[in-house]
Amino acid sequence: MSILVTGGAGYIGSVTVEALRATRESVVVLDDLSAGHREALSPDVTFYEGDVSDAPLLRNIAKRHNIEQVIHFAAFASVPESVGEPLRYFGNNTCRLVEMLRVLRPCGLRSIVFSSTAAVYGEPQSPVIDEEHQKRPCNPYGLSKYFAEQILDWSNTAYGITHVALRYFNASGALPKGAISADSPARGEDHRPEGHLIPLVLQTALGQRERVSVFGTDYPTPDGTCVRDYVHVLDLADAHIKALRYLRDGGKSQKINLGNGKGFSVREVIETARQITGRDIAVSLDARRPGDPSTLVAAHQKAAATLGWEPRYANLGDIIQTAWDWHSDHPSGYVSSSLPPPVTKSAYE
Ligand SMILES: NC(=O)c1ccc[n+]([C@@H]2O[C@H](COP(=O)([O-])OP(=O)(O)OC[C@H]3O[C@@H](n4cnc5c(N)ncnc54)[C@H](O)[C@@H]3O)[C@@H](O)[C@H]2O)c1
Repeated sequence: MSILVTGGAGYIGSVTVEALRATRESVVVLDDLSAGHREALSPDVTFYEGDVSDAPLLRNIAKRHNIEQVIHFAAFASVPESVGEPLRYFGNNTCRLVEMLRVLRPCGLRSIVFSSTAAVYGEPQSPVIDEEHQKRPCNPYGLSKYFAEQILDWSNTAYGITHVALRYFNASGALPKGAISADSPARGEDHRPEGHLIPLVLQTALGQRERVSVFGTDYPTPDGTCVRDYVHVLDLADAHIKALRYLRDGGKSQKINLGNGKGFSVREVIETARQITGRDIAVSLDARRPGDPSTLVAAHQKAAATLGWEPRYANLGDIIQTAWDWHSDHPSGYVSSSLPPPVTKSAYE
């Protein structure tokens, strides 16, 4: 039996694949490389290049690898892009999940760990958000994930397919070389275009950007800039492995926040990055962006109680140090090399 990891060539997926391999799980990756990188997967990972809604390909994978559990990372994940292209987001993040479930259900799918997001909550009604907080997503991205959560609920009711929907706050940091096992590779964040604060700050430190924008300095926070919860990508990977085992042991479906439980302001992130990199990081103080809440911090007690998960890299300095090590070693991100071709659909038809 293998675990199917969709979107495993992306940022969080590729770190989770390495963590799974270190626990001796058999892993199969399906990714269409629309945003992922072949180089983010070790050459010996079984990799299928294709779309999660490609029914013949999925059937082949399910049959050949005896898939009972899926970790579903594959999605588009940019809030501003989703506002401009909502149909693309509902299509990929919601409709293709339905297609995938329709194919895998009769093939023996038992449970799924789903990448959800803090964006399902919408405008926060309290500075610290627990899972019971109202769900009023205020952009197509958040809504596409909230629809997906409800589709998973009804799939549980009707077909008994269980799930853990992990609502991540801000994924951050990188996997240092050798951090999981003696020969585990480095993995990091390489979104094109990049929209996340920490990589933008570090690209500025590397001289790849002139300055980093600070959107709003008059929020009701200690230093006037937005406060966010940054959760280390290796902690996210660990939570996925715990969620897989929880479901395998018969655990019932859950929605669970994954956050650090602490908030850091934009100014704190930039100042910490200045200290770690020893570089000057120019900023431009810009107007607030519409829809940016002042503070977003996760209550993470449910993850501890249900999965036995606690963030181990909760310190902002550790998060930024690992990200800096990755960015300074990979200033151009993942670069193409001669890796084995994916296992394609045609190989099995
Ligand atoms: N990065 C964050 O801070 C964050 C926060 C909350 C939730 N999430 C969610 O976590 C997941 C992973 O995020 P990430 O930052 O690693 O993103 P990413 O873009 O790096 O990874 C997504 C991967 O999915 C692949 N993909 C997309 N659509 C596909 C399809 N139809 N078929 C096959 N492959 C497809 C892409 O090629 C990419 O490799 C996403 O579902 C995202 O919504 C991310």
